[in-house]
Amino acid sequence: MSTVDPGLDLFAEIDRLRRQRKALILAHYYQDPDIQDIADHLGDSLELAKRARDARDAEVILFCGVHFMAETAKIVNPGKIVVIPDLDAGCSLADACPADRLRAWKQTHPDHWVVMYINCSAATKAESDIICTSSNAEKIIRSVPEGRPILFGPDKNLGAFLIKKTGRPMDLWPGTCMVHETFSATKIAALKARHPDAKFIAHPECEDHVLRLADYVGSTSRLLEFVQKDAAGKFIVGTEMGILHTMKKAAPQKELIPVPYEDRSAACQGCNQCPHMKLNTLEKIYLALRDLQPRIEMPEDLRRRALLPLERMLAIS
Ligand code: 13P
Ligand code: SF4
Repeated sequence: MSTVDPGLDLFAEIDRLRRQRKALILAHYYQDPDIQDIADHLGDSLELAKRARDARDAEVILFCGVHFMAETAKIVNPGKIVVIPDLDAGCSLADACPADRLRAWKQTHPDHWVVMYINCSAATKAESDIICTSSNAEKIIRSVPEGRPILFGPDKNLGAFLIKKTGRPMDLWPGTCMVHETFSATKIAALKARHPDAKFIAHPECEDHVLRLADYVGSTSRLLEFVQKDAAGKFIVGTEMGILHTMKKAAPQKELIPVPYEDRSAACQGCNQCPHMKLNTLEKIYLALRDLQPRIEMPEDLRRRALLPLERMLAIS
C-alpha cells in the first residue's frame, strides 16, 4: 500500500478530495471517533443501506464500515463507485456462513423460508429469501407467513433472541459475533450491583445470559436513541465501544460505562472493539479517495440475486 506523507493535513486533504470526487462518506458507529466526525452520515446497518440506496448526487460512496456493508451499498446503488478504506475489514458472522454451506443447509430444508442477517456476503444474500438487520429483524420474522418454517442465520444469538420475542420457532445457523460474544455476564452483574442507578443496554448479538440482564435490547441506533430519551442518567453500554463517542456527543449529561468483557485470549487488548471495524484509518480514507481503490465490484448476475432479498426487506422497513 502507498505510504502517506506524515506532514499531510489528513482532515483538509480528505475534505478537498471528497468535494473533488463528489464522494459521500458513510460511517458506522463502531468507527474511530475521527472517522465518525468526518462522515456525511452515521448510522446502523439499515440506515446506512438506505443512505447508500438514496445517494443521488454523489459519484462515489466511501463506506467506512466492514465489507458486507460496503457490498450492500453496491448492491442497492450499482451506478456509484463504492470504495472501502480496507478491503480486509470483514466480519466473523459473514465468515461463518459461506454461500455453499447455506445452499447445502437449504437443500436439507427445502420447505423453509431463509431469513439472513445482513452481516453476510453478497453470495450468501443471493441464497436468501429475505434479509434483516438488528433494527428490523422482529418485523421481518413476523412478515413470514404463519406456518412457514424458517431457517435463520448467521447469528445464533440474534436468532435465539428473535425466537423469544416472536414465539416463532426457527432453525439457527451457529454463527456469532466475535466481539459481542466476549461480554461477561458475571462482570456485568457485578457492575450493575455497583451502579444500581445504571441501566444496562445491549445489542442483540450478545449471548442470551447477557441479554437476560439487559433493561433494553436494540440495534446500535436504537441504543443511541434510548440513551438520549430515557430518564436514567447512567448506562452500561453493551455493544462495541465506538458508539460511546456519538452517545457522549448526543447526551453529554449522561454517564456511559463501556461493557466489561471476558479476556478469552492472551492477545486481547480491548475485546469490546471490533478488530475489523478498526482496520479503517484516516490515512486509508485519504488513499481510498485519492485512488478510488479498493473498490467493491461483483458480477451483475450475483448483484441482482442479492438485491431481491434486500428489496424485500427495504419494502417493509
Ligand atoms: P447494527 O445494525 O446495529 O448497526 O449492527 C451491525 C453490527 O455489525 C453490529 O455488530
Ligand atoms: Fe461483525 Fe461483530 Fe464486527 Fe459487527 S462487531 S462487524 S458483527 S465482527
